[in-house]
Amino acid sequence: MDISVIGAGYVGLTTSACLAKIGHRVICVDNDSAKIETLIRGKLPIYEPGLKEIIAETVSCGKLTFTTDIKRAIENSIVCFIAVGTPPLETGEPDLTNVEAVARQIAGWMSGYRLIVEKSTVPVQTAKWIRTTVERYNRNQVDFDVACNPEFLREGSAVYDFLHPDRIVIGVENERARNLMEDIYRPLNAPLIITDLASAELIKHASNAFLAMKISFINAISFICEAVGADIAEVAKGIGMDHRIGCQFLNAGIGYGGFCFPKDLKAFIRIAHELGYDFRLLREVEKINEDAKTRFVRKIKNTLWNLKDKTIGILGLSFKPNTDDMRFAPSVDIINALLSEGALIRAYDPQAMENARKILPKVEFCPEPEMVADNADLIAILTEWDSFLKLDWEKIKKRMRIPIIADGRNMLERKFMENLGFIYIGVGR
Ligand code: UDX
Repeated sequence: MDISVIGAGYVGLTTSACLAKIGHRVICVDNDSAKIETLIRGKLPIYEPGLKEIIAETVSCGKLTFTTDIKRAIENSIVCFIAVGTPPLETGEPDLTNVEAVARQIAGWMSGYRLIVEKSTVPVQTAKWIRTTVERYNRNQVDFDVACNPEFLREGSAVYDFLHPDRIVIGVENERARNLMEDIYRPLNAPLIITDLASAELIKHASNAFLAMKISFINAISFICEAVGADIAEVAKGIGMDHRIGCQFLNAGIGYGGFCFPKDLKAFIRIAHELGYDFRLLREVEKINEDAKTRFVRKIKNTLWNLKDKTIGILGLSFKPNTDDMRFAPSVDIINALLSEGALIRAYDPQAMENARKILPKVEFCPEPEMVADNADLIAILTEWDSFLKLDWEKIKKRMRIPIIADGRNMLERKFMENLGFIYIGVGR
């Protein structure tokens, strides 16, 4: 099928590449000409495992092309995915002007029937607004449908998630749109959940809110574990083995970050408010997430007494492993809190240092992870990169002033670290 994907961000790029991989002819369009040039040169503007290879393969066999020419993209596709950014406004609402602008352009350029698919994460009822906008600007009365097809792609495993989905959610208004969407995803042979537009939009809000709630729930339990000397890892395992609860997203730590959960939660709380419901539960989820960071900083302070002129080594900056994404990373709030108390910060991350440099100008960045240990009074782990497990902790200990580890992601074994002579501080352990 001929498909255009408008927006070459994380979601748009992954969607374009994977739709091409499963056999469709895809035109990926973005108005950022520098980004498109980068992609045409075979480079990626983001780090996402496996994506570069799929893009190279699908471009070379002609299934995937990149352009800034939205007119050409719309004219040459039956299905147009809208995957443009919806950044948060100061009020917490997402900025939907990009979505509206694209809907208007589709209305202006479509030469025959089009299926317009909402892929960006947007508030419930946006599909209705897309329909209204296209109707208003569609001067030639061209026939079209609107569908909602939310993404559930985790950064760092977005390609895998696209090609092996638990389910594909499709919101449609009629059989014609349903048939087209079924054709698009048939090669994946995945369970399809077909609903009306608003239900599909709500599935996206509710999924992310539920996952964030799970993380805040386990973080709240970790606060209690600390008070009674229990181990959060054991508690999480004990509750997670109940299939009704499930063991995923029960890792306690310094809380969730990234460009989805914080933004989506805020938006959902706001949407609920506008619809007349005060979503107190989600407001508390947000608060617990903030508490997780402040408690971690307090723990470091309680261990080192004063932070002024103390050197703190940081391992891990990205909001989670396998990404270079620093947006809403818990590390930023934690490092800023430590800096404001006068600490000196030396930091390392396998992928995110280039992005981190732009938002953490007072931090000294180290090219090797071991270097954060030099004269450090404490090392804090803020992202659980696998490579940190393989570090020579014995050597690291020797480079530190005092061997203290604050493990914000509970990735190291307390006993192992204590046997090496470290003072180990975890979360809820
Ligand atoms: C999320 C959703 O998982 C995805 O379905 C959605 O469409 C986009 O948002 P992503 O933001 O890439 O994906 O990251 P995810 O893997 O969900 O992790 C989010 C945050 O939660 C990270 O900061 C992570 O460190 C944290 N987290 C996750 C925990 O603190 N504990 C856990 O048990 C799991």
